[in-house]
Amino acid sequence: MARNGLNGHERLVTFANPRSPAAEAYRQLRTNIQFSSLDRPLKTLLVTSTSPEEGKSTTLANLAITIAQTGNKVLIVDCDLRRPTVHSIFGITNSAGLTSAMVDTSLSQLPTQEVGIPNLLVLPSGPLPPNPSELLGSHRMQELMARLRESADYVLFDSPPVLAVTDAAVLASKLDGVLLVVNAGHTKREMAKKAKAALDKVNANIVGVVLNNVKYDTRMHHYFADGEKKAK
Ligand SMILES: Nc1ncnc2c1ncn2[C@@H]1O[C@H](COP(=O)(O)OP(=O)(O)OP(=O)(O)O)[C@@H](O)[C@H]1O
Ligand SMILES: [Mg+2]
Repeated sequence: MARNGLNGHERLVTFANPRSPAAEAYRQLRTNIQFSSLDRPLKTLLVTSTSPEEGKSTTLANLAITIAQTGNKVLIVDCDLRRPTVHSIFGITNSAGLTSAMVDTSLSQLPTQEVGIPNLLVLPSGPLPPNPSELLGSHRMQELMARLRESADYVLFDSPPVLAVTDAAVLASKLDGVLLVVNAGHTKREMAKKAKAALDKVNANIVGVVLNNVKYDTRMHHYFADGEKKAK
């Protein structure tokens, strides 16, 4: 899938076109996640995938919006300290973010930003460090994580792919759950199995798998269209 396929707000279908079938699919994802965690509170969630460009950041951004739309406070934290994109999806600056808060322990307020969507705040990656895995596994990150956890009802973390570097596994072991994005177009079965094994190894709680980039069944359109008509 082309990296320049959709840009910025175009990727935020849940915001730009909340009545579309795609937005409905993200709402179903939200409901499934909420039901999957009835006995085990799921407040911090990592979104990852086996390899690059499978739709992690797009899925995370839209899921965050649908949760915010229910009135819950949501914070997105961009922990992809290699190729961060959350700031560009929401059209905000990346001059300060997670890494700034890690370096400057005297910051009384986290450099989160509003993005024009009620109940949603974003903490971009900040300037990129030379040693992302080390930073994400540090004691300082652990402390910051506790602070992030307290600052919203749900905290969603973006990350690099599981099979490329250890960052996602390092984070997964510290969070309540992991959502694995699989791209219907190009994720290989073997890769998905390897990613699951890497996450199991650190005792990650895989709450579900999102099948992204699925061909849209036009027959379903009538269902949604009829539903919309009836709702009027
Ligand atoms: N369901 C979708 N429909 C159309 N385009 C999509 C969809 N999901 C992702 N894309 C496009 O695919 C590209 C990669 O998506 P995204 O940045 O979300 O993937 P990623 O897994 O976070 O990538 P990276 O590994 O670089 O972090 C983007 O251009 C995005 O707009
Ligand atoms: Mg990404």
